[in-house]
Amino acid sequence: MKLVYEGKAKRVYEGPEPGRVRMEFKDSATAFNGQKRAEIAGKGVVNAAVSARLFQWLGDQGVETHYLATVDDRQLDVEQLTMIGLEVVVRNRVAGSLHQRTGLAEGTPIAIPVVEFYYKNDALGDPLLNDDHIRLLGLASPDLVARLKQEALRINQLLSAFFQDRQLILVDFKLEFGWNPNGELKLGDEISPDTCRLWDEATHERLDKDRFRRDMGGVEDAYQEIYRRVMA
Ligand code: TMP
Ligand code: ASP
Repeated sequence: MKLVYEGKAKRVYEGPEPGRVRMEFKDSATAFNGQKRAEIAGKGVVNAAVSARLFQWLGDQGVETHYLATVDDRQLDVEQLTMIGLEVVVRNRVAGSLHQRTGLAEGTPIAIPVVEFYYKNDALGDPLLNDDHIRLLGLASPDLVARLKQEALRINQLLSAFFQDRQLILVDFKLEFGWNPNGELKLGDEISPDTCRLWDEATHERLDKDRFRRDMGGVEDAYQEIYRRVMA
């Protein structure tokens, strides 16, 4: 199959039919805009399975996603989307760049979830954008920004409950959206321990990519633990 795109953690191949593409999840990991790199054994398999499960489950709850089918343990078929050039982050507790930006203690609960938009632009290091910046760059209309925010908050409610049932706290996560060939807005990309912060409810043990970003060790085990709980 023809490779159409290779990113830091995934390859995308032309699909078996028009309008359909195949995503392949790699074990490669990067952090801090590619400055740090490693292989995490089994990560691709975990992220493919977890993404497929979450897309299927969100679909059952009425969320429109790009997921079509699971091909094998690293490959999913999805609708080809024209991506909106924004990353939509939702936060339920302070962590990562919000901790850096505000000085609030890591783990502080956030009563009304915080939604942020980042510019998908590796050369600029994916900077934070406000609504006016998004309009200036022509990335999305104010109506679309409002719709993305509403959709991200609905997905946050659903995913928070899904993970709570598995004794996990959804601290924060990143979503990407795009348009399918029929002009419908769909949730795209992946939802995995690469793109979510997930803490054990009882111990607050980090069970996500922060173990790699922060050299905490036990990275492979954390991904396997998420696989076990999500697929159960
Ligand atoms: P941050 O605290 O570094 O801004 O990350 C917020 C959330 O977004 C966290 O769950 C990790 C996820 N994320 C990505 O999926 N891709 C990225 O490039 C970054 C920076 C964060
Ligand atoms: N900054 C991303 C992360 O830490 C990965 C990267 O851009 O290399 O998740």
